[in-house]
Amino acid sequence: MKDTVSITGSAHTVHIHDSALKHVTGRADYADDIALPEGTLHAYLGVSDVAHARLLNIDYSEVLATPGVVGVLTAADVPGVNDISPTGLNDEPVFPTDLIQFHGQPLFAVIAETRGIARRAAERARVDYDPLPHALDPVAAQEAGYPHVTAQLKLERGDVAPALSAAQNRITGRMTVGGQDHMYLEGHIAFAIPGEDDEIFVTCSTQHPSEAQHMVAHVLGVPSNAVVVNVRRMGGGFGGKESQMNLFCAVAAMAAKKWNRTVKIRPDRDQDMTATGKRHDFVIDYDVGFDDTGCIQAVQGTFAARCGFSADLSGPVTDRALFHADNAYFYPNVRLDSHPMKTNTVSNTAFRGFGGPQGVIAAERIIEEIAYATGQDPLDVRKANFYGGEDRTLTPYHQEVEDNILDRLVSELEETSDYRQRRQEIIAFNETSPVLKKGIALTPVKFGISFTATWYNQAGALVHVYNDGSIHLNHGGTEMGQGLNTKVAQVVAEAFQVDFERIKITKTTTEKVPNTSATAASSGTDLNGMAARDAVEQIKARLVKFAAEKWTVAPDDVHFLPNRVQIGDEVLPFDTFIKQAYMARVQLSAAGFYKTPKIHWDRDSGKGRPFYYYSYGAACSEVTIDTLTGEYRVERTDILHDVGRSLNPALDKGQVEGAFIQGMGWLTTEELWWDDKGQLRTHAPSTYKIPLASDRPRIFNVQLADWSENRELTIKRSKAVGEPPFMLGISVFEALSHAVASVAEYLECPRLDAPATPERVLMAVARLQGEG
Ligand code: MTE
Ligand code: HPA
Ligand code: MOS
Repeated sequence: MKDTVSITGSAHTVHIHDSALKHVTGRADYADDIALPEGTLHAYLGVSDVAHARLLNIDYSEVLATPGVVGVLTAADVPGVNDISPTGLNDEPVFPTDLIQFHGQPLFAVIAETRGIARRAAERARVDYDPLPHALDPVAAQEAGYPHVTAQLKLERGDVAPALSAAQNRITGRMTVGGQDHMYLEGHIAFAIPGEDDEIFVTCSTQHPSEAQHMVAHVLGVPSNAVVVNVRRMGGGFGGKESQMNLFCAVAAMAAKKWNRTVKIRPDRDQDMTATGKRHDFVIDYDVGFDDTGCIQAVQGTFAARCGFSADLSGPVTDRALFHADNAYFYPNVRLDSHPMKTNTVSNTAFRGFGGPQGVIAAERIIEEIAYATGQDPLDVRKANFYGGEDRTLTPYHQEVEDNILDRLVSELEETSDYRQRRQEIIAFNETSPVLKKGIALTPVKFGISFTATWYNQAGALVHVYNDGSIHLNHGGTEMGQGLNTKVAQVVAEAFQVDFERIKITKTTTEKVPNTSATAASSGTDLNGMAARDAVEQIKARLVKFAAEKWTVAPDDVHFLPNRVQIGDEVLPFDTFIKQAYMARVQLSAAGFYKTPKIHWDRDSGKGRPFYYYSYGAACSEVTIDTLTGEYRVERTDILHDVGRSLNPALDKGQVEGAFIQGMGWLTTEELWWDDKGQLRTHAPSTYKIPLASDRPRIFNVQLADWSENRELTIKRSKAVGEPPFMLGISVFEALSHAVASVAEYLECPRLDAPATPERVLMAVARLQGEG
């Protein structure tokens, strides 16, 4: 069976994911499938069963007495710095020395001959501690006077206080928005092989090999050049493997060096869920002033987030929440503040959208509030407040929205989904249906593309052409299912004008491309595609020079044709031409580089152009709820999404569908629940409900806006797709809200927190019926 498949149609070639066949036949190698060297040891984490305490002593005697246990790895074994905080704040020890900060915090690792032995022995340690009071959520943390884990952000434009008081109407509200577990199919996993001297080789499942490398070096007290980190692919990352792999890499590496044997660590699902960070939950307070037509005059918002015990990526996550608290809407006067609260919970981290979804849902709730207050169709309120028109393009962070296509995109979806007609029918249905109620909502999304940490917006690639004409591609991005490798290989194949199959896609390794950024912020293709093209262009320039000299033609007379090269009147197969270039000693390898132009951001003043461009989309969802049980189902969803000029429509559609479903899961059934001791009780798929295939919309129409192209010079004018469609799930949430509102004649905007579980839907219905 061949590893890559191209479906050749009459017009163009469709490339399926380069590993698709291997994924579905179980032949794709994940970190757990790689054969381990003789004598490999296994590590398992011992964790705390208290949320906050002074750590007094750990007695390992029973652990060490367990047959098959080789030893324990503790804070005292850290040869370098006992810190794995990704932002260098020194607030995240590998293992704590004197303070336990959350229930489930890793305290030590047991190293044993088998994973089963290590896992069972880890429970036999006796931990002595002095309990301290704990705060689990952002409100409790604020009441307890807990600090922020990182500096707050403030965004401001205009004069919000007078504008709010002068507005014809004013609404204040609070919404809580839940977090989310990544629930990647493959959990965290790492193994480390000790090398000569200070060298160490780590294979793991991370979105950020360079950070894992630097972190292992930091913890081992060796320079980065001693550490190699390899990643072939992940079984999903979704942001959960941007920084969270640091712990597992550090443990495997330290143990490998200590015992001079290969050490592998793979937590089970429960430990993966309790010991690694999730999406931040937020408590959002808003105050909005608007006129009688529903036009927004001023918005004030505070965004308090459950960050957990350390900063991790909470700074940029809460910043991105503020950057998206406008979603698609112009706020003439605005003031937004983040409160990144320290809590005694696992440190929350990146998750698809990176805080953006929590900002966007606040904007959409504000719109719904205004719609009910003014008795309008929420879609009309949305349209009335879109960016665009004279003096209505400036965001709260002072970037101009120059590429807004929402007027067209939303109008098209409104037509194709038959929104107006169906809304009338739904309202009519609800009048005659006492128990089942329907709801519909059409919500837009605008998402800013670029890392807000400007220096992250760089990438490298390494391209070799071997003298048989085969091509080896390496770049700094990682493959987690999104199809990045396929897209970058397409870029290379097209630049050389050779068949896709000629490109060998290889593992990501810190040995080939250094100082890479996380594959995150949806920017994998934008960055690595450009870097790879830069490498190809360098090689092509040398080939053209060689051909022009050898055949004595003008450089303009050298053309790369499909699998051939034309030089003047002569046409050679690509391989023949490459062999000749090799014989003439032409360098057939190049390192490419790219950095995103135009962007800058000054966090202190809250002004700049953090985003190169925006991606847009809209979704229309219809739901039915059962007002006696709160149960619901999604009847139909229509999506129109903007990916600019699609590099690969099959992959892009897959991203849109998957992101929508994941966004819907976040806002409907996925609920994280900690008990009052701070123990996460939803720690496995048994208690944490992600959407099933049977939960998908009964009718699901997904279209890419094929007329769109990026006005910026991205790779082939495409746009990032990984995260933006996640927020299309908000259409389901607002459709549920619409159905709930029907029980009280749509006179009031239902109070609905996320996730809108059947329980919350039922409570919202009861409240509107005067029973709550
Ligand atoms: N798609 C799959 N199948 N698996 C994943 O883990 N992660 C998402 C998105 N799509 C993810 C995915 C997230 S959070 C991001 S930031 C982007 O992919 C990262 O990849 P890209 O930049 O290449 O789009
Ligand atoms: N998105 C995703 N990951 C990140 C970002 C971002 O903006 N900044 C740092 N890591
Ligand atoms: Mo995605 S949350 O930026 O890894």
